[in-house]
Amino acid sequence: MSRTEADQHIKMFMVFLILVRVSQHALAAVVEEYEGAESVLLPCQELAPEVNPMVMWTRNDLDPKFVHRRDENGDITGQNPRYHGRTSMKPDALDSENLSLTLKEPQQSDSGVYTCSISDGRDELKVTDVYLQVKVHQVQVKSMEGVESVVLPYKTKAGLPEDTTVEWTRSDLNFMTVLFFTNNSEHTKKPDGLYRGRTTMNKDLLKTGDLSLTLKYPTNRDSGTYTCIVHMAGDILREKIQLTHVRESLPTWAKVLIILLVVVLGVSGGLLFYFRHYFKSDYYMEVDSHVDSVLLPCKTIVCLPKKGEDNNIYTCTAYSSGGRILMKKRVTLNVKGQC
Ligand SMILES: *[C@@H]1O[C@H](CO)[C@@H](O)[C@H](O)[C@H]1NC(C)=O
Ligand SMILES: *[C@@H]1O[C@H](CO)[C@@H](O)[C@H](O)[C@H]1NC(C)=O
Repeated sequence: MSRTEADQHIKMFMVFLILVRVSQHALAAVVEEYEGAESVLLPCQELAPEVNPMVMWTRNDLDPKFVHRRDENGDITGQNPRYHGRTSMKPDALDSENLSLTLKEPQQSDSGVYTCSISDGRDELKVTDVYLQVKVHQVQVKSMEGVESVVLPYKTKAGLPEDTTVEWTRSDLNFMTVLFFTNNSEHTKKPDGLYRGRTTMNKDLLKTGDLSLTLKYPTNRDSGTYTCIVHMAGDILREKIQLTHVRESLPTWAKVLIILLVVVLGVSGGLLFYFRHYFKSDYYMEVDSHVDSVLLPCKTIVCLPKKGEDNNIYTCTAYSSGGRILMKKRVTLNVKGQC
């Protein structure tokens, strides 16, 4: 092999290396976060140049495109105003290889492709793209009293890498772990006895991408916000699910119907009680054989005539059941009021 041929080979090899590097970095990492989170981290790992080091985070769909810029002396101005006061990096970022950007209070409009680049003041090298997706929509799931289990659904793409970790957390309870999946097996972390032995995921979740969580014997205490956080090959995916445990299993119309029925029964019961003398035709009384007299109850409501008219005379007659008149009594009624 001649010297020029060797040079040619070395050149081709270097071009190949550059191409590999470019294609590796062309794939954007995906980072998902929900609106309302305190902050989100956009990862970028690279050693900055020794001379005139500079790191730049840009969004090419914006003008000005700079989200954050830093050189040896600290942060540089020229930042797009919508990121003002919301971005930060490790103070020693340029010496540490960790060029990750922290973005505070992410909003839906922050969704987009962020490019991390380094420069020595002359040449610029793109290190990585990060596709940030700021989500808003939460999935709503209801569990009914008495059901054996409830499924918190989450399906991502099939064929996940072996080193994928999946963590189901109670994001409303300080991100308490519900179930942790790593090294291709499930772990329920220690302190949270609330969920121990009650949670499962599909056996072949890496193959199917179905990361749904099954929660057995749900109760009121399980109501809350669950977030599934997935780390896989540089991507950080998130899914938020609101679980509501419902005690009564009756639909609303049935509840309304029952309330109406109770009200109707109550009112008619009250009316029956009030007008019971109209409906009660037989009284049953028991007396001792040696008593001298007995007062037989008989009440009635009659419309009394107006004041000033003649007084009325009423006759009260007691019959035996055979029809024999036992007693008659006249009652003169003096009307003082009116009906
Ligand atoms: C990089 O720095 C950020 C803080 O800016 C930190 O949260 C993150 O864990 C660091 N990453 C690594 C790989 O050290
Ligand atoms: C996963 O497996 C690796 C080696 O196979 C081991 O070093 C690591 O501690 C394991 N992690 C957990 C959480 O079990």
